[in-house]
Amino acid sequence: MTSSASLRRDLADELAKRGQLTDPAWRSAVEAVPRDAFLDATVFRPNGTQWEPVRRDQLGESEWLRMVYSNTTWVTQVDGASATDASGPLPGRPTSSSTLPSLVLRMVELGDIRDGHRVLEIGTGTGYSTAILCHRLGDKSVYSVEYDEGLAATAAQHLHAAGHSPHLVVGDGLRGHQDGADYDAVIATCAVRTIPPSWLWQLRDGGSITTTISGWMLASGLIRLALNEEGVASGRFAGDTVSYMLARPHERPPRPTFYPHPGTSRRTQMAPELLDDWTGLFVAQLAAPSAELVRTGDGIALVDVATGSQAWTEPDGNGWTVHQDGPLRLWDQVEDALITWQQAGSPDQTTFGMTVTEWDQTVWLGDPSGPHWRLPV
Ligand SMILES: C[S@@+](CC[C@H](N)C(=O)[O-])C[C@H]1O[C@@H](n2cnc3c(N)ncnc32)[C@H](O)[C@@H]1O
Repeated sequence: MTSSASLRRDLADELAKRGQLTDPAWRSAVEAVPRDAFLDATVFRPNGTQWEPVRRDQLGESEWLRMVYSNTTWVTQVDGASATDASGPLPGRPTSSSTLPSLVLRMVELGDIRDGHRVLEIGTGTGYSTAILCHRLGDKSVYSVEYDEGLAATAAQHLHAAGHSPHLVVGDGLRGHQDGADYDAVIATCAVRTIPPSWLWQLRDGGSITTTISGWMLASGLIRLALNEEGVASGRFAGDTVSYMLARPHERPPRPTFYPHPGTSRRTQMAPELLDDWTGLFVAQLAAPSAELVRTGDGIALVDVATGSQAWTEPDGNGWTVHQDGPLRLWDQVEDALITWQQAGSPDQTTFGMTVTEWDQTVWLGDPSGPHWRLPV
């Protein structure tokens, strides 16, 4: 049977070949940390619209280990129900997982986390990424916050069994964790709609925040922000097409089923297919940050959770008609932003950057004086 150690080496080789693991110190962490020790004996895998539990004893040891050490995200909790407790497939949204190893490593490399750094991780999850940090930085320099009490307890057991004792905190990581401040770096393994001010306050000058910025259209952008002496954090998006689940307090609120209102109608200048593009959707989300995207079959609908406003498109023979209703003209907002993006040559996310002060957070196109959009606060 192939051993866990050789599968870890294979995983490190694969990540290195893909250019996602360049630093030998992180390579040694991938080779050392046993991912199988951070997963219970069951994980979820996608099956159509459901999540199907896959059990270690059903799969057999070698196949289980091969699965665990593949560069794949393994979902461990769906809408608060753990894979271990599931008696069959479940519908719903993942609420915890063991992140794609290449993304765990990409985050620490992008964050430029180095020996001697003290790091605050948001989203302990299974504890795998926490163990990767501990291996390089030492347990005393790693603080990790998990929102879900049960997950935090399981991660603590797994970390201790693997010989690690970082500072583990149960609570809302959007408040940071004052005890370890000032941190050299904050790394979030859940996405945020906006940077929590506490992350800035608990960071040393020159420190960094590495996170994905997401929102209610589930568009995502990976970024490293560096904090200057004036207390302003800024950076450019990395351009990776990766995403994390939203931090629980930033999750989309429940909303009624979409039901189209006729509203006022006009022809669109921009095709709704632009929202199929990674950056196009990101631009749309910047322009209408409290709207959700619904795919209607032959078009799209935007539904604003805050005001009930809606906009929906339908094909009209040789183009698209949009219908808008409610206090916000959602499609006007989105269309204006898409035009601005197209006039700039439809660049990818690396042309976008972000500036965060205590009062204001903006994503800009080109440079900070270019077109910009405010993030919700
Ligand atoms: C993708 S998983 C983390 C994966 C983890 N890094 C690993 O390697 O196993 C995201 C985690 O963030 C947690 N989370 C969500 N919102 C949070 C918050 N506000 N504070 C702390 N943890 C949060 C979720 O409960 C979930 O366990």
